[in-house]
Amino acid sequence: MRVALGVSGGIAAYKAAELVRLLQDKGLDVQVVMTRSAREFVTPLTFATLSGHKVSTEMFGGEAGGGNIESAVEHIAVAQSIDALVIAPATANVLAKMAHGVADDFLTTLCLATQAPAIVAPAMNVNMWEHAATRENLETLRRRGVRVVNPDEGYLACGMTGAGRLASLESIVQAVCKALGLREDLSGETILVTAGPTQEPIDSVRYLSNRSSGKMGYAFAEAARRRGARVVLISGPTSAEPPSVHTLERVRTAGEMAEAVFRHVDSADVIIMAAAVADFRPANHHDGKIKKLAGPQIMNLEPAVDILAELSRRRRRTGQMVVGFAAETDNLIENAAAKLRAKRLDMVVANDVSRADAGFDVDTNVVTLLFPDGRTIPLEKMRKFEVANRVLDQVAELRRLAASAAQQ
Ligand code: CTP
Repeated sequence: MRVALGVSGGIAAYKAAELVRLLQDKGLDVQVVMTRSAREFVTPLTFATLSGHKVSTEMFGGEAGGGNIESAVEHIAVAQSIDALVIAPATANVLAKMAHGVADDFLTTLCLATQAPAIVAPAMNVNMWEHAATRENLETLRRRGVRVVNPDEGYLACGMTGAGRLASLESIVQAVCKALGLREDLSGETILVTAGPTQEPIDSVRYLSNRSSGKMGYAFAEAARRRGARVVLISGPTSAEPPSVHTLERVRTAGEMAEAVFRHVDSADVIIMAAAVADFRPANHHDGKIKKLAGPQIMNLEPAVDILAELSRRRRRTGQMVVGFAAETDNLIENAAAKLRAKRLDMVVANDVSRADAGFDVDTNVVTLLFPDGRTIPLEKMRKFEVANRVLDQVAELRRLAASAAQQ
């Protein structure tokens, strides 16, 4: 989703740099539009670097190259491509222009041209904030559906004390998410996610592993964080870029993964075991490299710890929810249902890994969700991030039901 961030000229303009980051953290693509006076406080380069987009101020390309048709219609292109327009800080001047339909620069023209929801976070001197003109302008904007994130009270840059400080960045982000219909339905939950393969060493240069890329687990971690959860990600070795989460632990073997899981398990409300953990490991580990020997060799394997089975044996912090995966090549539903029962899971994500467009090392997946009450939800082929969100929809709903049952 795309958001235009309008920055107008107040001392709080510097805070908009952090706001870019926080909005990006919600997975939003942010394009910054500055007023002329905002450029007195922060350079456009700061915002261009943070957002990865050109920063617009003037209608016709400004000093850098006016007079071309692209810059003349750019505000229309931006207006049509955005899902929300947020102005933070919004000065009394910008609010007045918005209320009266003045369009004399890129930002105010964008305000008129876009049909996307608008959010304003005013910041100004307390007398300007309390002035009847500002009050009436805000009333007009509210009546038209503009969402206003009221300023906080406190010490103001002008030396006075009172209302007028830019609202907290969290509350601005919240208002944007709300306007976009982005869910915050996992806030307050701690979600532990395992991801990727494990590697079981044979000697100091070789190991047993599998084709897991970690993409599915990383998609869960990213999606859960964007929905407000505190995410603990325990990842096996993979080349994929991990999402930024509350806690990231990198492990190598099934044993190390088990140790990390059991260290964090008590703080978790939901556990999602997306990792492809080794079932077996070499019984003997050689220090150094095993030399080539003539003739066939036999390697003895012993079972690796089954983390999920161990979890269901040890659990019951009441209400803790466990989601497992079933990676299958045959009899998908029957095998997955058997895992659901055997490991006493609250949900199993059944994954046919024999398909080329699902499972290992691709960006898409085709899964069926199974529940202890016999419900099954087959999902069509979709990107792993979307799969994660569909699973989390079910997690959020089950958590909500459990919480209301506990209250009764
Ligand atoms: N799992 C685990 N520890 C293991 C093996 C698997 O925690 N040593 C977890 C996986 O993360 C997954 C679930 O158990 O959530 C099912 O894994 P899968 O490999 O499909 O099944 P297995 O139980 O290993 O059974 P099988 O290999 O016989 O299909």
